[in-house]
Amino acid sequence: MWHRETQLAQVGIHADPSYGSVSAPIYPSVTYQHGPEGLGPFDYSRTGNPTRGALAEALASLEGGAGASLFSSGMAAIHAIAATLKQGDHVVLTEDVYGGTYRLFEDTFTKFGISTTYVNTRSLSQVRASMRPNTQLVFIESPSNPLLQVSDIRAISGIAHESGALIAVDNTFMTFLRQRPIELGADLVVYSATKYLAGHNDVLAGAVIARDPKRAEQIATIANACGGALSPIDSWLVMRGLKTLALRLNQQESSARQIAQFLDNHPGVVRAYYPDLGTDEDIALHQRQATGPGAMVSFQLPAHVDPGYFSSRLRCILPAVSLGGVESLITHPYTETHRELPEAIRIALGIHPGLMRLSVGIEHPDDLVNDLETALSL
Ligand SMILES: Cc1ncc(COP(=O)(O)O)c(C=O)c1O
Repeated sequence: MWHRETQLAQVGIHADPSYGSVSAPIYPSVTYQHGPEGLGPFDYSRTGNPTRGALAEALASLEGGAGASLFSSGMAAIHAIAATLKQGDHVVLTEDVYGGTYRLFEDTFTKFGISTTYVNTRSLSQVRASMRPNTQLVFIESPSNPLLQVSDIRAISGIAHESGALIAVDNTFMTFLRQRPIELGADLVVYSATKYLAGHNDVLAGAVIARDPKRAEQIATIANACGGALSPIDSWLVMRGLKTLALRLNQQESSARQIAQFLDNHPGVVRAYYPDLGTDEDIALHQRQATGPGAMVSFQLPAHVDPGYFSSRLRCILPAVSLGGVESLITHPYTETHRELPEAIRIALGIHPGLMRLSVGIEHPDDLVNDLETALSL
């Protein structure tokens, strides 16, 4: 088996049986002619499409799963996982989960009689205590968004499985290049492929990769039934992005390390959050289950600094939501990505008005540090 970097560079190259094109062909056709013997491998593009199929095959292999389904956004992918549940089921989630995930479960799925408990998944005793006889799903992010808290994927998988529940890991921040949840025991891995996988802030996409074929089939059936399939052109854009994922992530992570150190040492920053900056225990855990800290850094501004004014002083880093692309973006989780969480919960979790979340891009790290330095020298 090739290294992942090689697999990534070659994503989609065998997808053209007609001409052997190196770039996977984009098949916009919605429907496919039947031969005399009936339907062929493709009949209708919501159910299956050769371009989307090439991407699904690549992702399943890269993640080490049995199959992948591609969706028109990360939220559509998480929705498909939630749609495996039935009335009366209970879900345990990481407490500082992405705000959109919180909104999906609270606004949509509670209406269908699905209950939730949000816990600090860093604490295995809290996870264990939150499991109920009807818990069918444990949904975690590690490191979490935006506080980059690390949870023990292998141990939580064990707790979930002991109770007969599935475990899904949102691996958006790490990607399979840094963290492999299926090898750690997860049943499902979910992505906002909008982020690092596509990598250019120009496509909205989601993916679910399942450990076993039956589960992969179940997710594919839900994808077909609900209809949020990834379009052929967007599938192609994700494939094109994947080819440079290793290069991008190496650069982004190396710059993020430098920036996290800079922020951690800066007197104008109350606290910096990065997987390399946690407690010794957290660092050791992250290093056991992931091969790098990634490229997301959060930091707390002092109470007297207006986050809006701070962001307006940045020249290189763009104030914008989203993450994982080539451009560095800074977000204010309190009013943006996590605004769906009730204020008391935000504050209790540490998502304070002064918290900033930085997605480090591929710009020269010195320019990013200088930009932050200038904005911090208020
Ligand atoms: C960790 C995480 N998961 C899921 C999502 C949702 O993905 P999308 O915006 O592609 O629907 C996001 C979006 O920011 C995210 O940060």
